[in-house]
Amino acid sequence: MYYPDELVEEVRTKNDIVDVISGYVKIQKKGSNYFGLCPFHNERSPSFSVSGTKQMYYCFGCGAGGNVFTFLMEYENYSFQEAVKFLADRAGVKLPEGEYSQEAKARDSQRAELLKVNKEAARYFYYQLRGKTGEAGYRYLRGRELSDETIHKFGLGFANVTSNDLIRYLKNKGYGDKLLKEAGLVNYDEKNGMYDKFWNRVMFPIQDGNNRVIGFGGRVMGDGKPKYLNSPETMIFEKSRNLYGLNFARSSRAGNFILCEGYMDVIAMHQAGFTQAVASLGTAFTEGQANLIRRFAQEVILAYDSDGAGVNAALRAIGILKEMGLTGKVLNLEPYKDPDEFIKNKGPEAFEERIRQAENSFFFELRMLEKNYDLGDPEAKTRFHREIARKLCGFSEEVERENYIEAVAQKYHIGFENLRRLVRTYALENGMAAPAQRPKSGIRPKKDPAENRRKPQKLLLTWLVEEPPLYRKIKKYISPEDFTEELYRKAAERLFEDLDKDILNPAGIISLFADEEEQREAAGLFNTKLMELSTQAEKERAFHDILMAVKRSSLEALRERVGTDVSAFGQMIRSKKELEELSKTHISLD
Ligand code: UTP
Ligand code: MN
Repeated sequence: MYYPDELVEEVRTKNDIVDVISGYVKIQKKGSNYFGLCPFHNERSPSFSVSGTKQMYYCFGCGAGGNVFTFLMEYENYSFQEAVKFLADRAGVKLPEGEYSQEAKARDSQRAELLKVNKEAARYFYYQLRGKTGEAGYRYLRGRELSDETIHKFGLGFANVTSNDLIRYLKNKGYGDKLLKEAGLVNYDEKNGMYDKFWNRVMFPIQDGNNRVIGFGGRVMGDGKPKYLNSPETMIFEKSRNLYGLNFARSSRAGNFILCEGYMDVIAMHQAGFTQAVASLGTAFTEGQANLIRRFAQEVILAYDSDGAGVNAALRAIGILKEMGLTGKVLNLEPYKDPDEFIKNKGPEAFEERIRQAENSFFFELRMLEKNYDLGDPEAKTRFHREIARKLCGFSEEVERENYIEAVAQKYHIGFENLRRLVRTYALENGMAAPAQRPKSGIRPKKDPAENRRKPQKLLLTWLVEEPPLYRKIKKYISPEDFTEELYRKAAERLFEDLDKDILNPAGIISLFADEEEQREAAGLFNTKLMELSTQAEKERAFHDILMAVKRSSLEALRERVGTDVSAFGQMIRSKKELEELSKTHISLD
């Protein structure tokens, strides 16, 4: 954070979160909170809540949450700085120019410079495509059946055969050698000096979710190698955290995302009306990209090439989707190679039909697996069935597993009970798979022991924020050191400090964390769903249980530490006493 805390707080308090969010999302008052459809994932019933008292938002569906800054960072893809600036303007707060730390200023201006030079390069390529030297490129794109409108929409351009014209153009505009190298727009060697990285290629500017050009892909004219040349990773171009087409797909209302391999595929699909199409950037699909998608859609339809490499890529992607708690389906493009060719030959309606018929990713996996076994041979067939049982153990949720056992039994003509038994045997020997691993900020699997530790800590923090007077009653037993995770401890420290002064300011605590993911997680701490308990006695019992659980896990952590850290010993003894005392104490919630 480069602005002083007090100033950031001033900006925050002058921008009521309910006002700000109402400008983007339709929310309605229900009880003390506002509810609406979450803008960060696709849903039909509202689980997105905004609290005026906490000055925070939280989605019980996808775990998105934070304060007014976080909201703009997520919604508009702003950096923390940008969100502060935007809201300062909105509320008429003047931000001092010189408050940046030197280093932060340098980093920010470096990013800004890279974005600027990329934008300028994109503009140059764009005009080249429309001029005399770009005729070949324009003819090529039109030959691939892209309309002028599409070419314009995606900002396509051309890098001509001259190998230093971009350099000359950018230098004329005042950009220095160093920046051109850092942006990956030029190559350099001793003999030739600097020369354009891209030449004789149609150019695909790669935009982030916020329409900023962060890099390029260039396709060679004809059969040269490599077919596609991409910008290297830079400070602003992180391939594993961006998706080609996301800037458009994010506002598609399709309810799913179509994931494919190529720039041309994305463009062809968008042109045909499938604006939910995105592609990874010349690299394998990553968790970071799945995480991005998760904000907008729950279901991903894989439209990878129908060759062997495409199938393998699809199988890998399915694993990642599953891990991230997304539903996967696989599109059959046969007899064509990729979405672009399919649409060109069959048209949008046929493509739509294939989307409707997309195969459940689990069945796709089984179908691919089946190819390795000769099912005429009982031995091989048995091995195949065992392998199926093994895979079925991957469903951690019983209902889901049962449903799959039933469907698979039917499809592969295996007796339902037989298959079930096989799954059980397998599970007994090897254990059921751990539940899907959700990302840091999402809902975590219940069986994770670390999560078992964290859960009561989160509940306690939420409870204290909901009913601050309880703090006085528990401070004797619980201190920030009892929170076993660094982030929790930091949040508790500040919350307790505030509560000691009779201040309640959870939204301010979020700004303590610089990293967006951490802010999300901190928001989750104060917005855990408290169980609905009717009687006072039930509530008191639950609260007591939570306190005990927090204290116990803290003691457990201390025990682990004592082995290597003698100073923890005294603390452990104290903590043990407090736990004993707590166990005998009745804390009333009145
Ligand atoms: P494909 O070769 O399948 O792309 O590579 P495509 O879109 O069908 O190509 P066209 O239709 O012949 O123009 C898929 C993606 O893999 C990356 C690019 O991102 C491309 O869009 N790729 C491919 C590279 O990065 N480098 C290459 O040399 C080839
Ligand atoms: Mn293609």
